[in-house]
Parts: sequence; structure tokens; C-alpha cells
Amino acid sequence: MWTYYPELLAKPVPRYTSYPTAAEFDAIDGDLYRTALQRTQGEVSLYVHIPFCEKICFYCGCNTGRANRRQRLESYLAALDGEIDSVARELPAGVRVTSIAFGGGSPNAVTPDDFRALFATLDSCFSLDNPTLSIELDPRTLTADWMAVVAELGISRASLGVQTFAAHCQQAIGRIQPEDCIVRAVDGLRDAGVASLNFDLMYGLPGQTMQDLEDSLQRTRVLGADRIALFGYAHVPHVVPRQRAINVSALPDQARRFAMAELGYAYFATHGYVPIGFDHFARPGGDPLARAALEGKLRRNFQGFTDDGNEVLIGFGASAISSFPHLLAQNEKNSGRYRMVSSQGRLAAHRGIVRSAEDRYRGAVIERLLCHGRARLGAGLMREARPQLEPFVARGLASVDREWLTILPEGLPYARSIAAIFDVYRQPKSGQFSSAV
Ligand SMILES: C[S@@+](CC[C@H](N)C(=O)[O-])C[C@H]1O[C@@H](n2cnc3c(N)ncnc32)[C@H](O)[C@@H]1O
Ligand code: SF4
Repeated sequence: MWTYYPELLAKPVPRYTSYPTAAEFDAIDGDLYRTALQRTQGEVSLYVHIPFCEKICFYCGCNTGRANRRQRLESYLAALDGEIDSVARELPAGVRVTSIAFGGGSPNAVTPDDFRALFATLDSCFSLDNPTLSIELDPRTLTADWMAVVAELGISRASLGVQTFAAHCQQAIGRIQPEDCIVRAVDGLRDAGVASLNFDLMYGLPGQTMQDLEDSLQRTRVLGADRIALFGYAHVPHVVPRQRAINVSALPDQARRFAMAELGYAYFATHGYVPIGFDHFARPGGDPLARAALEGKLRRNFQGFTDDGNEVLIGFGASAISSFPHLLAQNEKNSGRYRMVSSQGRLAAHRGIVRSAEDRYRGAVIERLLCHGRARLGAGLMREARPQLEPFVARGLASVDREWLTILPEGLPYARSIAAIFDVYRQPKSGQFSSAV
């Protein structure tokens, strides 16, 4: 049973898919990225961003736009090919790719043949070492031809945007998606050989009741999702103008959001799933994410919680972020400008941050807290953080033992707020992040 302490959740905090977060990125010299690529060794992961969707949802905070102009898609894919080639040329021989994630947007907004061609480019430019392939898919536009591509390329992990099964919520978020459509997607992907199937669900949606949420959780379990990401809807219309289409007065308040997050946690934790952090869940036995959590090998990267242990992630496409131990580098966000830069054969990373030794240390503490609920701070950091930890410790949400900080089970929904104590870049007045729950 969680207890709601509004004063501890008052401050918006980042999701910490990196530290420092993307909010701290500044203009960087392109040579930094080139040098980081040239110094890369061993196994790497790739992320390819497809910023297109056939239909745009009102709530969406992702970098994506409508896939309604064939020419725009074609020139974007040509630019991606160019970027893949330019990056591959910088990497030393011997670098092997062991994981490729396709995200967006909706990668299935491009045609199956275009996707085959994109994969062929990756295959010809990199040394692929039997990589784990994963993809984000919009179930509304998942055709039989697309399922065939999933099977043909051996994509073993897929994530479907499901959000909610409640028709009135779907109406309110501009995403009409009958259950049939999800059932068809699940059946087709299973037949295509997908072993790990994730559902993205959301709470805190306009007009959503506790019953609506519970019904969606049940349907998700019955449909056999291996993983669930239960996101709290982040309403930040000053950053994401398309969210102005959402009726603010129909949004659940923070106390209700808290109760919804708790309902989700309690439901999945008692129905055969391993909790990953407080809002992700995975089935033990088969799913690698559950295994990583149980074995203490869980990591966090730009895609959220992951079992991918590679230290280098190279991002392709507009807004994609690359991560190296000493550098975070982000590509041009605007897809038009990205196309221009990449088609000229230039590397598209133009913003980012050099990670100092202190950034890496604090980043490791934040990652461990979010992934394992426990971290060794060291004497100096413990001394510095102790006053800010006090409200959490006093309420039984966290405990400290010499240099160790542990987030207690009741403290799970406060994990991001506790992690934020170690974030030196956090601006007290900042309103750019979403609520921690
Ligand atoms: C790239 S999409 C998933 C794949 C595909 N585009 C789809 O929607 O079916 C990323 C996910 O981010 C989540 N998301 C998007 N905007 C959000 C917001 N404002 N707050 C919380 N989660 C959000 C949704 O759950 C969505 O499924
Ligand atoms: S939620 Fe998915 S389908 Fe909807 S606009 Fe965002 S990326 Fe596209």
C-alpha cells in the first residue's frame, strides 16, 4: 500500500533515461561525436528513429509528424541511408552490432519494402553479430505485409501502442482503436515469431476512471503481453502544442494519478509479472527484461529500462541520441533540417554534453536507484544528500545505512524524486518536466 505525499511529488522531475538529461544539452562541436565514434570498440547497439505516423494522437510527446507525403518519407529514408553510411565509415574495424531498436513515431509508417531496404543498408554498412531486433509498432496500421517483414527479418521484440481499451478515452485522446485491432496485431506478431511483446498503456488520461484502467490492465494480461510500460500521461502543452486538443478539465488530478499508478502496480505484481521500477512490468520465465531485473542486470537508456548492457548506443535519424561513456550527442531534431544535413554527408549530431567524471558517477547512482532501488553513494555524496533525503527517510520511503541508500517498497512511486536529489543540473523553478507520478 502506497501513501500519497503531495509535497514530495510537487516538483516535476525528468524520467532519467540519461544523466545528464537531454534538457542539459547544448551545442557541441561535431568533431566530438566523430572522435567518440572513432574510439568505439567491441559491441554496440543501434537505435533508428522513424518520425512518422499515419495518424497523430493528441497526447503524443514523441518527435513525430504525419506520414502523408510520400516524397518527404523517401527523402527522410535517403537521409537515413546517408547517415548510416557516414557513421559506419568512422567506426573502427571490429565494432560489432548486437542490438538494433527501431522506434518513432511508428516505424510501420514506412512501407515494408522501404523498411527492408533500410535494414539492408544497416546490414551492408555494419558488422551485424546476430543482433536482437526490436521495433515499436502502431497496431492501427499494422498490415499483413508488415507482419511478413517482422517474420522475415527475425524481429523478436515488438512494442504496441495500446494506451487504453476504453472507447470514451480513445475518443478524448484522438486515437480510435477497437480491441479487434489489438487482437489482430497480437496474433499476427506471435505468428511472425515475436517472443517478447510489450504493450504501452497510459493512466491519467482525460475522463479515465479507475474502472477504465483496471479493465485495460485485465485485457492486457488476457491478451498475453510479456511486458507492460504503464506511462502516466505527461500533459505539457507549452512544450507539445498538439496536446492543446486535450480537455484539461477532464484530466485526473495528481491524487487520482497516484491511485492509478498504485492500481497498475498492485494489479501486475499480483498477476504474475515482475515489477521493473514502479511503472514497468515483465513476465518472469521467458522475458529477458524480467530476467535482467531478477539478476540485478537491469539498465536504463533512452528507450527506458533495458537488458542491453552495451556501453555505446548509436542513434540514427532526426532527434536520435547517441550515448558514449564520455559523451551524449543528439541529432538535429527537425526532420527537414536533418534531411538536409545528412544528405550532404555531414554527421547530424549537433547538440549534447560531455560527461564529466562527476556526471558519470552521479549518473550511475541515479541509474542504480531507478533500476535496483539501491545505490552506494560514497561518504561525500551521502553527506551532501542527507538533508534532502530526510523527508523520504522520515516517512519510511527510503533508508540509509552508512554509504548506502535504499528505496523501500513504499518509496517506489517516489523513486524519480529521490533520484533527482543527485541531479546537480535540476533547476528548482523548471516546469519543463512532467510530474513524477
Ligand atoms: C513511439 S510511441 C509507441 C509506438 C506507436 N507509435 C504507437 O503509438 O502505437 C511511444 C509511446 O509513448 C507514450 N507516450 C506518448 N506521449 C506520451 C505522453 N505525453 N505521456 C506519456 N506517455 C506518452 C505512449 O504510450 C506511446 O505508446
Ligand atoms: S503515440 Fe505513437 S502513433 Fe500516436 S502520434 Fe505518438 S508515436 Fe504516433
